[in-house]
Amino acid sequence: MKSIEVKAERSYSVEIGIAWRDRLREILGNHNRVLVIAPTSLSHFLDFSTLNLSDEGIFWVPDGEDQKSSAVAEAIWQRCGEMNLQRSDAIVGIGGGATTDLAGFVAATWLRGIEWYAFPTSLAGMVDASVGGKTGINTAAGKNLVGAFHSPSLVAIDLDFLKSLSDRDFAAGLAEVIKCGFISDASILELLKETTDIQAARAHAAILVEKSVAVKARVVGTDFKESKAREVLNYGHTAGHAIEKLSGYSLRHGEAVSIGLIFAAHLSRNVCGLGDDEVSLHGELLAKFGLPTTTRYSLDEIVVLMAGDKKARSGEMRFIGLSTIGTPAWIENPTSDAIRFAYESISK
Ligand SMILES: NC(=O)c1ccc[n+]([C@@H]2O[C@H](COP(=O)([O-])OP(=O)(O)OC[C@H]3O[C@@H](n4cnc5c(N)ncnc54)[C@H](O)[C@@H]3O)[C@@H](O)[C@H]2O)c1
Repeated sequence: MKSIEVKAERSYSVEIGIAWRDRLREILGNHNRVLVIAPTSLSHFLDFSTLNLSDEGIFWVPDGEDQKSSAVAEAIWQRCGEMNLQRSDAIVGIGGGATTDLAGFVAATWLRGIEWYAFPTSLAGMVDASVGGKTGINTAAGKNLVGAFHSPSLVAIDLDFLKSLSDRDFAAGLAEVIKCGFISDASILELLKETTDIQAARAHAAILVEKSVAVKARVVGTDFKESKAREVLNYGHTAGHAIEKLSGYSLRHGEAVSIGLIFAAHLSRNVCGLGDDEVSLHGELLAKFGLPTTTRYSLDEIVVLMAGDKKARSGEMRFIGLSTIGTPAWIENPTSDAIRFAYESISK
């Protein structure tokens, strides 16, 4: 087992390589009442029968983004009330990033904040969503616009969960791993250069999770509430979010980020002087794991959404770029030529 410390509004550990039932049993022993939130899609993997957990103590939610709704949160608050969940009690989220976002949000809001534990089951959840304390749900106004910064007490990663994860979802998580490599840890890229395909990447899951969590922990530790330094984690995300939204969320977050990374690399070449080999490496790695690198959406459609992106301040367009691997740069209001050049690299 590896443990990585995250220093946010308080410190907590990310434990990589635990056995989820053992860890959950300990948590159940440490609180009077615990409410576990998990998606029904995983009910056949999640056998709670050997744990001291009543039916009332498990709340099954819909899969994917459907669970990140105010209606689902409301239903869970109702259950919290029925269970009389107190400040000394806890919430546990077991599932992909959508589930840990939801569980963390309910924990942040019930009694103005109770403890919660994240048990991520997808690669995206392990390397990104469960680490860093951002929690939230979706509303008609947009995705993740309602939420809270509320760190978990522990992130417990059982790597065995990845065995049942589809190649598509594993690859989507790899997009965030590759992003971590480009912004901060070239050894991730070196390892992935030597990795032939997605099956081979699965064999490196433990080390890839460890290195990516270390990158995220380091960044979050310097800027928990994203005043500036944490924005480097958004490399590839400005165009990525726009494309994800244009797809009506039919693309996985990581798939949209993959296209966004190609865009960001070409923008970086133009604006920050990122080298041609480093730009090409983005496409080589992402394509090798079956991730998309082009889009059919028009430049105009993407620009409108990028201008409204959460990172845009007072109508300006802001991007995270790279001058070299491991050296992020903040790009504000690039010229329309620079944006067009970057767009041509992702246009189908
Ligand atoms: N809070 C943050 O900082 C942060 C960061 C990145 C992403 N996110 C959020 O995370 C979500 C994306 O994460 P995700 O891709 O894990 O989404 P997800 O939770 O929707 O999971 C993707 C799919 O994988 C399935 N799955 C999960 N674990 C599985 C397993 N072990 N075996 C088989 N299937 C499994 C899920 O049922 C789902 O169908 C989005 O809602 C995004 O907004 C949050």
